[in-house]
Amino acid sequence: MRYFYTFFLTIFSISLVTGCQNTKEKQLSSVENSDEKWWKEAIVYQIYPRSFKDSDGDGIGDLKGIISKLDYLESLGITAVWINPFYSSPNDDNGYDISDYRAIMKEFGSMEDFDILLKGLHDRKIKLVMDLVVNHSSDEHEWFKQSRSSRTNKYRNYYHWWDAERGKPNYRYSLFDINHDAWKYDSLTNSYYLHYFSRKQPDLNWENPTLRKEVYDIMKFWADKGIDGFRLDAFGFAAKDTSFPAFPKGYEKNFMAYYSMVPAIHDYLKEMNKEVFSKYNVMSVAEGAGNSFEDAHNLVDESRKELNMAYAFEGVDIAKAEGYSISHFKKVFSKWDSAFTNKGWISIFLANHDQARMVSRFGNDSAAYRDLSAKMLNTFILSMRGTPYLYNGDELAMTNAGFSKINDYRDMATLNEYQNQLNKKGNIPAFLNRLQFECRDNGRTPFQWDNSVNAGFSTGAPWIQVNKNYTSINAADQEKDSSSVLNYVKKMIQIRKSNQVLVYGIYNLIDKDNPTVYAYTREWKGMKMLVLLNFSNQTSKVNTGLNLAKAKPLIQNYSNLNGETLQPYEAVIYQLLN
Ligand code: GLC
Repeated sequence: MRYFYTFFLTIFSISLVTGCQNTKEKQLSSVENSDEKWWKEAIVYQIYPRSFKDSDGDGIGDLKGIISKLDYLESLGITAVWINPFYSSPNDDNGYDISDYRAIMKEFGSMEDFDILLKGLHDRKIKLVMDLVVNHSSDEHEWFKQSRSSRTNKYRNYYHWWDAERGKPNYRYSLFDINHDAWKYDSLTNSYYLHYFSRKQPDLNWENPTLRKEVYDIMKFWADKGIDGFRLDAFGFAAKDTSFPAFPKGYEKNFMAYYSMVPAIHDYLKEMNKEVFSKYNVMSVAEGAGNSFEDAHNLVDESRKELNMAYAFEGVDIAKAEGYSISHFKKVFSKWDSAFTNKGWISIFLANHDQARMVSRFGNDSAAYRDLSAKMLNTFILSMRGTPYLYNGDELAMTNAGFSKINDYRDMATLNEYQNQLNKKGNIPAFLNRLQFECRDNGRTPFQWDNSVNAGFSTGAPWIQVNKNYTSINAADQEKDSSSVLNYVKKMIQIRKSNQVLVYGIYNLIDKDNPTVYAYTREWKGMKMLVLLNFSNQTSKVNTGLNLAKAKPLIQNYSNLNGETLQPYEAVIYQLLN
């Protein structure tokens, strides 16, 4: 799944909106020329609503389910949530195919539920970031129904059409469709329409100013409700060369250079900023970070007035079934940090709803090391410079699903690719093996609340199977256990919140060639922290060049510390005292 999916996951970042400012924000914004912002200090928790909590027994998570867990969210200490799309949708791609941008998906509840949820979050000082999916809509959106009905319909130019008399358009790759052909022929008007994702996700035509205005109106609708930010889904693809020229031979090797970041994207973002972000003071993060540092800066440098935060995929992409090297990991994260030393801002994450589970990919999900390595990885996310994004369930060390049959999977892109493999007589056992490690459904199994039936997620049959390990990995047990991953993550969140050096401090990699340990310092306004992370299952030595006798441990995942000798997957943060 990853090999075709990650093509486009190198694109963009998120945009959050600040609705009502709290006292802290007012203080910060009154500091002249201050670079300090609430969204830099935020700790974002991503909720995959379909799998979080079901309130009505239909096996599908819903807004009332999230409402029933608001106290849990508050107990984590997180300060913002990003919730995957909950607009009306036929769910070809679990909500990423929207049929009405101003209505709530019926499986998820009603607009009244949404209003209660938003108020419940704000009452707890948690901000809400929404997913804005406007590279494409659903083919069941009224715009598309109109658009396809005739060549002269006023919605025709909301999408990309190619009249068949002109011959077949030049090939475009579809990330999700069987055969990967992004042009679908529609006999109704004897034309092809473009869909970079599935055929039920036609691409919107951003060249059309009327379409763009519709999108800004939708954003204003939600901003007026008081939401705090937007994540711009797949937006790197929105601008296109609509002459659809043939791409040169071998372009696939550099797919993103041809498919994403067409320069007009910056005009659209500037316009969006002027029309929406600036008026509402909302925060914004696009999915991806462009194709280069230059792109990333063009997206998020403050003076350009486009977006706030980049969300680079290079780090999350390096985990492979055969393993990854920590040297590579260090290089990638250090490189991206250096890109934003002076201007712009980045997101730090190791998982989301499009990835398999963090502990199974970057840590070690064996019984011996699961908890230790999950604590270590969460320490990493919460101690880097950049806004941390925690994916729901990773605070419990939820693992990959262990599905072995294709029928266990639900992801449309995976099922289409399976069909594609069958058609071309591919190696099916190898394909299924790869899915076990990398399919995004691994990260979508129901949240493991407790050890009751269906992990306390639903009283009905869940839309996707619960991971069988829920009796030993669940929130209720971990809440009671002071040494659990959950309690460790809560402590780490408090440490980040009470030490601004972890948000703004200069990052400095140390012992850089160490093959197993990731060590770095963070320094700001006379404060200095040292972070030591052993990414291996072996005892490892680190050379810090610092006097640890003069350092105060703030958090550690082992009870005993042996200075520069680190136990398997050990994580420790020291405050360095002069
Ligand atoms: C983004 C979403 C992914 C979705 C795709 C198409 O990458 O994160 O889940 O399938 O866009 O909307």
